[in-house]
Amino acid sequence: MQSLPAQVRIVEVGPRDGLQNECVALDIERRLTLIDRLAAAGLASIESGAFVSPRRVPNMAGSVELMQRLQRRAGVRYPCLVPNETGLDAALEAGCDEIAIFAAASGTFSQRNTACSIAESMQRLGVVAARAQAAGLRVRGYLSCIIGCPYEGPVPAATVATLAAELDAMGCYEVSLGDTTGIGTPHAVRALIDSVAARVPPERLAGHFHDTWGMGVANVYAAMLSGVSVFDASVAGLGGCPFAPGASGNVATEDVVYMLEGAGVHTGIDLGRLVDVARWISEQLDRKPASHVARAFKSGKD
Ligand code: HMG
Ligand code: MG
Repeated sequence: MQSLPAQVRIVEVGPRDGLQNECVALDIERRLTLIDRLAAAGLASIESGAFVSPRRVPNMAGSVELMQRLQRRAGVRYPCLVPNETGLDAALEAGCDEIAIFAAASGTFSQRNTACSIAESMQRLGVVAARAQAAGLRVRGYLSCIIGCPYEGPVPAATVATLAAELDAMGCYEVSLGDTTGIGTPHAVRALIDSVAARVPPERLAGHFHDTWGMGVANVYAAMLSGVSVFDASVAGLGGCPFAPGASGNVATEDVVYMLEGAGVHTGIDLGRLVDVARWISEQLDRKPASHVARAFKSGKD
């Protein structure tokens, strides 16, 4: 049997990827409560906001105020998305110590998402990464459409590997590979990660799986078998990308935690507290949790 890592780090993306595409825009107070409750449940890396155009992504408006008001807990990281130098200026004003830059392996998606070609985006991000690192910030990288693009169809693994290597060379401490529309299967994910790992070691890769086709948990497991031990997930399975039609939320954090703990892989997350957060945030958004575990879990209160 292939060995699994002893522990996995989960990057909770609910307050950013999760909320950015919901019909209900949460006020800053409830976004702060969500972030703090996630930290209290044991999440040590929580993507909290995005310094992007509020016209294009209204739900992320107010991220500067949010980060200025956030009561940071020791040992917890609170990265935010930054697409360009304007976003970096906002991150610095907000007192961020970690940012996430994002690019795509599809030219059409890059245009729709960030209004520039892949080459322009990499040039912009190189400048942002250099400035951020000079200011002492940690930089994480994202690459979208690693398996396929909602506009262009299948994406070549060689393109993904080349761009992941470019983000790595910019100094990103890890590159998160985004299956933006969740079309990847475990088999495809393993093949892709094995190709990328020839350029960027799996220790510096993360998996970011949307659950549109119900493959999220299986894809996490498959990526672990290829040596990845960092995964992005969203409480209650919230989320989607406004510029990727049909994409649903990320794989639910509580589903991933249940699967990992069942395999003896430590996450440091209290599943009961996490399920409480999933139910609470779903109520705030007037929806049901998308996760299996939040529906199945019986706590002392049930
Ligand atoms: P641009 O090049 O200026 O072009 O912005 P634009 O026409 O798209 O936007 C123009 C407006 O944005 C102008 O304001 C700019 O001043 C303003 P307006 O004249 O309309 O009032 N602007 C900004 N405002 C705030 N913060 C900034 C900023 N920069 C320009 N940093 C930009 C390019 C990327 C900023 C814009 O296109 C944008 O905000 N796009 C949204 C990107 C986004 O947030 N996408 C969702 C997140 S990525 C994702 O979900 C994928 C991921 O989860 C991984 C995966 O699943 O694959 C990470
Ligand atoms: Mg995403």
